[in-house]
Amino acid sequence: MREAPVHLAVFCDEGTAKGAGLGAQTMAETRAYSVVGAITQFWLAARAEGLGLGWVSILDPARLAQDLAVPPGWRLIGYLCLGFPEEDSETPELERAGWESRAPALIMETR
Ligand SMILES: Cc1cc2nc3c(=O)[nH]c(=O)nc-3n(C[C@H](O)[C@H](O)[C@H](O)COP(=O)(O)O)c2cc1C
Repeated sequence: MREAPVHLAVFCDEGTAKGAGLGAQTMAETRAYSVVGAITQFWLAARAEGLGLGWVSILDPARLAQDLAVPPGWRLIGYLCLGFPEEDSETPELERAGWESRAPALIMETR
C-alpha cells in the first residue's frame, strides 16, 4: 500500500435513484454487484496495460468512510491500490505467501 502510486476507495451509493430501482427493488444487493462488476472490468483493463491491482479489504470501512467524509448511505466495496508490479508471476501473490492454495478444477459432466 505504501508503494502504490494510486489508491481508490470505491463505494456503492445504496440510496441512488439512478436506474429507477430496476433490479434493486427486488434484490437490493444488485447495486453492490454492479460496483463489483465495474471493479472487475477495471482490474482486467489495468492488467492489459501492465498495471497491477491490489484489493484491500482488511480495513475498517466505517473509519474509512469517516476519514473520507463520504455521504451517508455510501457503502465501501473495495479499497484498491494500483501501480506497476515490481515482478511478474504466473502464481498469485497470496498463494506464494502461503495464504491459500488452489483447489483442483471441478469438471462436471452433463448429459
Ligand atoms: C474481494 C477481495 C478482497 C481482497 N482483500 C485483500 C486484502 O485485504 N489484503 C490483501 O493482501 N489482498 C486482498 N485481496 C487479494 C489481492 O487483491 C491480490 O492478491 C493482489 O491484487 C495481488 O494479485 P495476485 O494475487 O494476482 O498476485 C483481495 C482480493 C479480492 C478479490
